[in-house]
Amino acid sequence: MENSKQNSALRDSTSKSLWQEVAVVAGDKSTAVVNEPDKIYDCLIVGAGITGITTALLLQRAGHSCVIAEARQPGFGTTGGTSAHLNTFFDATYPEVESDFGKEAAKLLAKGGQEAMSMIEGFVKELNIDCDLESKPAWLYAENEKESKQLQKILEASQRAGVSVEVTNENLVPVPFDSVIRFEGQGQFHPLKYINGLLAEFLKLGGVLLQNSMIRHSSVEEGIYAAKSDTGMIRAKKMFYATHIPPGINLMSLRNAPYRSYVLGLKLKNDNYPDGLVYDMQEPYHYFRTHVIEGQPYLIVGGEDHKTGHEDPEAAFQRLKDYAGQYYSVESVAYQWSAQYYVPVDGLPYVGQLPAAAEGTYVATGFNGNGMMFGTLSAKIISDLVLGKENEYASLFSPSRLKPVAGFTEFVKENADVAWHFIADRFSSSNLKALSDLKPGEGKLVDYEGKKLAVYKDDAGKVTALNPTCTHAGCTVQFNAAEQSWDCPCHGGRFDISGKVLTGPPTIDLETVIISYDQQP
Ligand code: FES
Repeated sequence: MENSKQNSALRDSTSKSLWQEVAVVAGDKSTAVVNEPDKIYDCLIVGAGITGITTALLLQRAGHSCVIAEARQPGFGTTGGTSAHLNTFFDATYPEVESDFGKEAAKLLAKGGQEAMSMIEGFVKELNIDCDLESKPAWLYAENEKESKQLQKILEASQRAGVSVEVTNENLVPVPFDSVIRFEGQGQFHPLKYINGLLAEFLKLGGVLLQNSMIRHSSVEEGIYAAKSDTGMIRAKKMFYATHIPPGINLMSLRNAPYRSYVLGLKLKNDNYPDGLVYDMQEPYHYFRTHVIEGQPYLIVGGEDHKTGHEDPEAAFQRLKDYAGQYYSVESVAYQWSAQYYVPVDGLPYVGQLPAAAEGTYVATGFNGNGMMFGTLSAKIISDLVLGKENEYASLFSPSRLKPVAGFTEFVKENADVAWHFIADRFSSSNLKALSDLKPGEGKLVDYEGKKLAVYKDDAGKVTALNPTCTHAGCTVQFNAAEQSWDCPCHGGRFDISGKVLTGPPTIDLETVIISYDQQP
C-alpha cells in the first residue's frame, strides 16, 4: 500500500467536508513495526494532521528517523474539517496579545504568522503540491459603533505588530457594515491536498506512517519511550502529541476548552462568490470565502461556534443556514460539516515540552480557530526543540508559562464549567426515559435499571447501549445528532455511536452495555 492512494478520506464526523472528495496518501507500514520490534526511532509523532505531518517531514529531512502513529487515517481530525484559512491575524487579536503578553510578544506573534505562511508557500513551491493555494486579502468588518471601536484598536495594534492592514470602504459581502479593514497577504488552500504533498515527501525520505494505530498506552524507561499501539509496540527517543490534547489528565486538559465550529459549502443561484476572505466581529463570529473545486465555486460560510457538548449542533447548523440565506441566494447546501478546535485560556497556543511529563515529551495545542497556521509554526518549534536548536517562539508558546493575569477570567470560567460538569454529571440523574421513546437516528441518555445509559437507535431500529461515562475523566457524554456522535462536554473527547474513540483525550472506547427487554423498543 505504500504511496498508494485511498479512494476516499474519512473524518471524525459523519458529515462530509468539502475536502473529502480527494484521496489521501496511504502508505501504511504497520508491518515495519511488526517486523522490527526492537527498532528505536528518533521520534514518535502521534497524529497525522497538519501539525504532525509537517513536524515529521522537518525532522525526517534533518536526518531523524520518524514514525507517525495515526489513530485512523491522515487528516481524519480537524485538518479534514478546517475551513482552511491562512491568516497572519488571529482569534487572539493583537490588542489582546499586547495587553496580556506585551508589545514585543505581539510583534513576535506577527512574525510567527508570517513564518508559517512562508513555510506553507515554500513547501508548495518546492514540492510542487497542487493544493489550490492562493494569496488573498482578508476583510474584517464592524457592524456597529462598539465593534468599530474594537476594530480601530485591532487596526492600530496590528500595524504596530508589523502586519500589513489598512482601512477600506468595502467588505466584499452583502452585509451592511459600519467600518472595515483589509489585511494583505492572507491565503487559502485545500488542506488534504496539502498534507498529501507533505506526506508523500515524508514517505519518500523513509519516514514511517502507521494508520489505524491509536496509541493506547506509553511509558518511558531510560530515555526510551515504549508506546503500545493498535499495530504493535513502537519505541522512540522522543514523543510528540500532535493530537490537540494529549491523553491522560494533565494541565492541557484544564487550560484548553473544546469548541465545535460549523461550516457550509453552498452553491449560489448567481455569481456573487466573494474573491477574498471575509470575517465579521459578532460573537460567535461568521466568515465567508470561496473555493473552486473542479470548476464549481462553493461559498464557504462558517461560524456559530460553541463549546463541545453544550449546545444543539443541529440548531447551530440551522442558524448558520438562516444567516447565509439572509444575504445570499442559495441554490443548495452542497456540504455541511463541523469540526473541533481548542481555545486556550490566555489566548495563545501551548507548544513545547509537556509539563510534568518525561523530558522529550512534546505537545502542541490551543490553536483556537487558526490551526493551519499554528500547526505549521508548531512544527518548526517542535522540530527545533527535538533537534536541540534555539527557537525564538518557544518561550512565548511554552506550555509551562504562567500567565496569572492574562485570561484569568476565562480560566476561571472554563474551569468552573468543567468542575460543574464533573459534579452534575456524576450526581444528578436525568429524567426517566423509556427506550421506546427513541426515534431512528436518535441518541439519548436514559436511566435503565438504576444505571445511566447512552442509547442510540439506528435506522433499522437496532438499539446500541453504552456506558456514557467518558473514559478520560468520568464526565457524561452528550449526543450530537448532527454528527451522530457522543461528545464529552469536559475536554472534548468524542465517540462514534458504537462507542469507538473519534477524538482524544480519551484513548479507551466507551463500554458497550448489553441490555435486555421483553419487547422490541
Ligand atoms: Fe475529559 Fe471526557 S474528555 S472527561
